[in-house]
Amino acid sequence: MLDARQEFRHFEILRLGPDGQERWGAVSGTPIFDAGGHFCGYRGVGTDITEPKRLEQERLRLSLHIEELSRRMVQAQEEIRRRFSRELHDRTSPNLAALRINLDMITKASPAERSTEVFAGRVEDTRALIEDTTLSVREICAELHPPVIDCGGLFAVVQSYAQQFARRTGLQVHVECQHGEVRLANDLELALFRIVQEALTNSAKHAQARTLTVLLQLDSSPMVVMVADDGVGFDVENALKARHTAGLGLINMRETAEFAGGSFTLQSVPGHGTRICVEI
Ligand SMILES: Nc1ncnc2c1ncn2[C@@H]1O[C@H](COP(=O)(O)OP(=O)(O)OP(=O)(O)O)[C@@H](O)[C@H]1O
Ligand SMILES: [Mg+2]
Repeated sequence: MLDARQEFRHFEILRLGPDGQERWGAVSGTPIFDAGGHFCGYRGVGTDITEPKRLEQERLRLSLHIEELSRRMVQAQEEIRRRFSRELHDRTSPNLAALRINLDMITKASPAERSTEVFAGRVEDTRALIEDTTLSVREICAELHPPVIDCGGLFAVVQSYAQQFARRTGLQVHVECQHGEVRLANDLELALFRIVQEALTNSAKHAQARTLTVLLQLDSSPMVVMVADDGVGFDVENALKARHTAGLGLINMRETAEFAGGSFTLQSVPGHGTRICVEI
């Protein structure tokens, strides 16, 4: 373009500044010719566009991040639907089918059959099926929105979940809390509870831990929510590198914490357990 003596507008160039930092410039130039039509040089302006360029790159990064977030949100919603569908298909639905068979047999039983042990066993089985179905529906509802959180707050819901979790997994869970009576905004309580839930689930799934500790400091500034296990630990860098093949839990915890205006840290040393900490 220069050789052809053409005009150029907003030509972007990247070079290193005197401090060694990259600087973006935009130059525009118009060729100058003398009366005889001989080229004399270019007249033009150059502008430092490092800052607008940085803002543009930041905007691009954020929009990619938002795109990635919404993709993951859809994935997470799909995962929840899949879980509930599995629960309904594998537990609730067979229970209802068995109830129907039992009720058919109960109603068709002759007076003589009604006094047998087999009949009593069938009635007992029916009662157990109803109880299990009720429990499964309650679990699904509690998972969708834990009712304790509305009346008791974060400490109450974490404590109740930890007890249920300990029963289910056989792990020891200690919940330590200073000022458990402190109530936070509903959304924040739910967000922090989801983080604790995921951290406990990860410990049960991956850590081969024996003891888990949940620490809630609700009246301090920053407020702290910490979950630690005494399990096998893992190589965090490798897990993050494999983020496209691995699960969503770690990413979701970080994003939930950041979305709530806090920070998320994860410490894990192979052989020495894992600890996640949210500060808000
Ligand atoms: N407490 C832990 N102890 C040991 N390894 C862990 C622990 N937490 C996470 N990891 C490792 O980090 C990986 C990523 O965890 P993440 O929660 O993101 O995914 P996931 O649990 O495998 O799947 P998802 O949470 O989506 O169901 C796990 O697969 C596991 O290898
Ligand atoms: Mg997980």
